[in-house]
Amino acid sequence: MNKTGAPSTPPAAVIVLAAGAGTRMKSTKPKVLHEVVGMALIDHVLHAAAPLSSRNTLVVVGHGKEQVVEHLTQVHPQVATVVQEQQNGTGHAASIALQLLAHVSGPVLVLAGDTPLLTTTDMQRTLAGLADNAAVVLTAHLSQPAGYGRIVRSATGGVDAIVEDRDATDAQREITEVNSGVYAFDAELLRSALANLKTDNSQGEQYLTDVLSILRSQGHSVAAAVTSEENILGVNDRRQLAEAGAILRTRICDEWMLAGVSMVDPKTVWIDRTAELAPDVTLLPNVAITGKSVIRGGAVIGPDCSLHDTIADHRATVTRTTSIGAIIGEGATVGPYTYLRPGTVLGSGAKAGGFVEMKNAKLGTNAKVPHLSYVGDATIGEGTNIGAATVFVNYDGQEKHHTTVGNQVRIGSDTMLVAPLVIGDGAYTAAGSVITQDVPAGAMAVGRARQSNILDWVLRRRPGSDSAKAALADSSHKNNKSNKKT
Ligand code: UD1
Ligand code: CA
Repeated sequence: MNKTGAPSTPPAAVIVLAAGAGTRMKSTKPKVLHEVVGMALIDHVLHAAAPLSSRNTLVVVGHGKEQVVEHLTQVHPQVATVVQEQQNGTGHAASIALQLLAHVSGPVLVLAGDTPLLTTTDMQRTLAGLADNAAVVLTAHLSQPAGYGRIVRSATGGVDAIVEDRDATDAQREITEVNSGVYAFDAELLRSALANLKTDNSQGEQYLTDVLSILRSQGHSVAAAVTSEENILGVNDRRQLAEAGAILRTRICDEWMLAGVSMVDPKTVWIDRTAELAPDVTLLPNVAITGKSVIRGGAVIGPDCSLHDTIADHRATVTRTTSIGAIIGEGATVGPYTYLRPGTVLGSGAKAGGFVEMKNAKLGTNAKVPHLSYVGDATIGEGTNIGAATVFVNYDGQEKHHTTVGNQVRIGSDTMLVAPLVIGDGAYTAAGSVITQDVPAGAMAVGRARQSNILDWVLRRRPGSDSAKAALADSSHKNNKSNKKT
């Protein structure tokens, strides 16, 4: 074991106990599937355990087992599961796991599924203690130890026993060192001790914690590895879920800042564990980067952005934007007040400006949609400019249709492009047009009524009004008098 976390000998097995009900979450969802920073609680535990390179990883499931197994099959296909039909205690859960690991000998690490702050180093330090002991328990000193099992130390500093809060004497309740629920055991010693577990406690359950006193009574030594209060935080209710999330967000921001990401105000930055950033990314205040987002070097994101499953390439700038499933090209600019939906692909140097919504839209290099537009189901060529307030009319009430706009096209402001349509390279559309037919390359498409001016209408129909007075005072009006109609 070393400080950087390179594994020593891999454990023979990692067992994750996750069969409990999680009653205090008050949820139809199993506790270990509740998410913080983009991953389920159990994902955090398995993620931290992965660098140990255990030959076997086994999750004990029970409550909500269908959902938990389905999740594990999808996200951690290498992990095996075993069902504990009735939750007769942590010792019972460990026995069921060991029945499936009958062939296993050597170090076994036992974890709980609801401790998302536990680190790989904590796990390694627990395992490392096995070199000189039959069992090691990971502990921490808590200011408020109530509810946790207390560590009863021997005169020589080893561990004699763990006493559950409800079974403890008043004197034992004064102990501030508590059991994290993480242990390393020698597989064979664990197997034989589990066979001797009784249920003579306040809950009538088989306590895994009793294995430690059984091993002591057999003359084996048991040690503790001590970590921080923060790392052992277990999630039992939604307040602890939020608390764990806050700590993880700080950790993730710290990691990215040390990796070269600038954050003006890290307290307002939310980055999922699943997102990836690069050196020289700048994050302005109030930014959430979630899901499988990737932000490349030189990109500036914020303020006020939510980017989910979004790729922002080198030097992209994204301001006050909600983006889901979009790809923002190199040097492209987005925002403010912009909504990018799945299938949006902005080429390099492209622009999606203020109050623009895009869905399933591909913009070529330097193509621009600067203001107030909806672009749905479209392909837009290089250097093309889409005038303000253009709508890609993609939906006929029943089906969606595609519009293809060529290179270097100029779409006039307030054009309705009624799909399906093809606008040829270099074509123009007149402002305010409703375009329902394909436009050949180089053509100017005009699709609007001609303008007519009804002279002196205001003087006749609104006599004496402010508008009429203004019209009379206007010198150009006098000049118009001789004209009948323009
Ligand atoms: C347990 C420890 C306690 C420790 C605390 C740390 C015991 C007897 N006590 O108490 O010393 O301080 O964890 O959080 O072990 N589980 C099963 N099957 C069961 C029972 C539990 O899989 O039959 C799982 C739960 O899903 C959970 C873990 O084991 O992930 C711990 O169970 P829980 O009921 O939360 O134990 P605590 O009472 O908190
Ligand atoms: Ca618990």
